[in-house]
This record gives sequence, structure tokens and C-alpha cells, in this order.
Amino acid sequence: MITFHKETKMADVIYSNHLLLPVINRFGIYMGFQDKTVEQVCGESGTDILFFLEILNTYNNEKYFPQEKLSAFSLSSIVNYLRKTHIYYLSFLVPQMEERLERMKTEEFADNLAVLRSFYTKYKQEIKSHIREEEEKVFPYVLDLELMQQSKMPIDEFKHKYVNYSIYISNDEHSEIDDKLLDLKNLIIKYLPANYDLNASIAFVNSLFHFDQDLQNHARIEEKILYPKVRQLEITLL
Ligand SMILES: [Fe+2]
Ligand SMILES: [Fe+2]
Repeated sequence: MITFHKETKMADVIYSNHLLLPVINRFGIYMGFQDKTVEQVCGESGTDILFFLEILNTYNNEKYFPQEKLSAFSLSSIVNYLRKTHIYYLSFLVPQMEERLERMKTEEFADNLAVLRSFYTKYKQEIKSHIREEEEKVFPYVLDLELMQQSKMPIDEFKHKYVNYSIYISNDEHSEIDDKLLDLKNLIIKYLPANYDLNASIAFVNSLFHFDQDLQNHARIEEKILYPKVRQLEITLL
């Protein structure tokens, strides 16, 4: 598996793995790279090249996991990246899955579509409430912890604001989301009678797998980088 570095041509990153395109877009970088290298593109867009490369390589190769290097980045840059990923899920991938699901409709498939839709809706609710929890509770806590570390927030104020709060309560939620997605995949791949629109069903399954892969990488960053880093700070500061 290729590891990208600062001299790699940006276009070659996409030729090597086009699924990285949305990951790159989350940094505000768009196509039209000409022959520019990663370093040149990051320089022009004001992107932190080390953080960019580590995220790119982490997504590109499951076995590449530079825990120590990623841990060197600030909590706010990690949270900022995770937030952009959430926006991508809610504003693009989830509506895309939904639209593809609805396009599977045929006259004979109407009842089964209703069953499939109800599985999908449960999955969507799970995702949305998980993201809401992170956006409204976890990330503000993490960012305030960093402010405290930088002496921009007094420890008393922090403790008062987060009395009885722990970001570890919701740690099992990632596997619950995985289980619901597996139910949905199983239903369509193993059990549905074949009277749906075939092309739409392929598109729907493709988007489920794409979402799953992106979500796994996203969750790895939260579990292996963000949470341990937060834990470390809590031990030092609290
Ligand atoms: Fe998340
Ligand atoms: Fe998460």
C-alpha cells in the first residue's frame, strides 16, 4: 500500500484512491491540481501539511495508524476536522443514501420498500443522535479542556461547567451504529425479493459501503486519537 508524502503529486493521490476526494475536500481543497505536489497545494490553501498527510494516509491504509504523530496535533485541529466530516455525512452522504433508497421503488416492491425504509430510518436516527451528542457535548468539552490547558479558562470554571460529565459514557455507540448498518446491509444483500429497481439498488449498496468505510476511519480517529489525548489531559490537568 502506497504512503503519500509531501512530494506526491496531488493528482496521483486521486488516481491511486478516488475515495480520498471527499476527505481532501474537507480541508477546503478542490480539484484542478495540475502537476502540483501535496506540499504546493497545502501551501497555497494554508493547510497544515503534516496533519493533512496523516489524515490522508490513515484513510488510505487501514494498517497505517500514526497514533503518536496524530497525537501531536492540537485538539482543536482534530475537532475541526471531525466536525467537517459530520457536515459531509449530514448534508451529503445521508441524503444521497436516502435518495438512492427511494429510487429502488417499483410497484411490486412498495411493501418491501416500507420495511427497508424503516430499517434505514432507525439507522439514520442512530447516526444523527450520535453526531448531535458529539457536536453539543463532547466537542465543546474537548475544546474547553484545551482552553484550560492554554490557561485561557480557569480550572474552577471548567469543573463547574462540566460537573458530573464524562465523554466516556457514550463510548459504545460506535459499535451500535455498526450493528444497525450490518442489519441494513444483510436485509438488502441476503433477504430482499428481487423486484426492485436494480440499478438503484446497486447505487444504494455502494453508498452504504462508502459511508461505512468513511465512518470506520472517522471513529478510529475519535477512539484512538481524540479520546486518549483527552484522557491524558484530564489526568494532567484535573
Ligand atoms: Fe463523530
Ligand atoms: Fe463518533
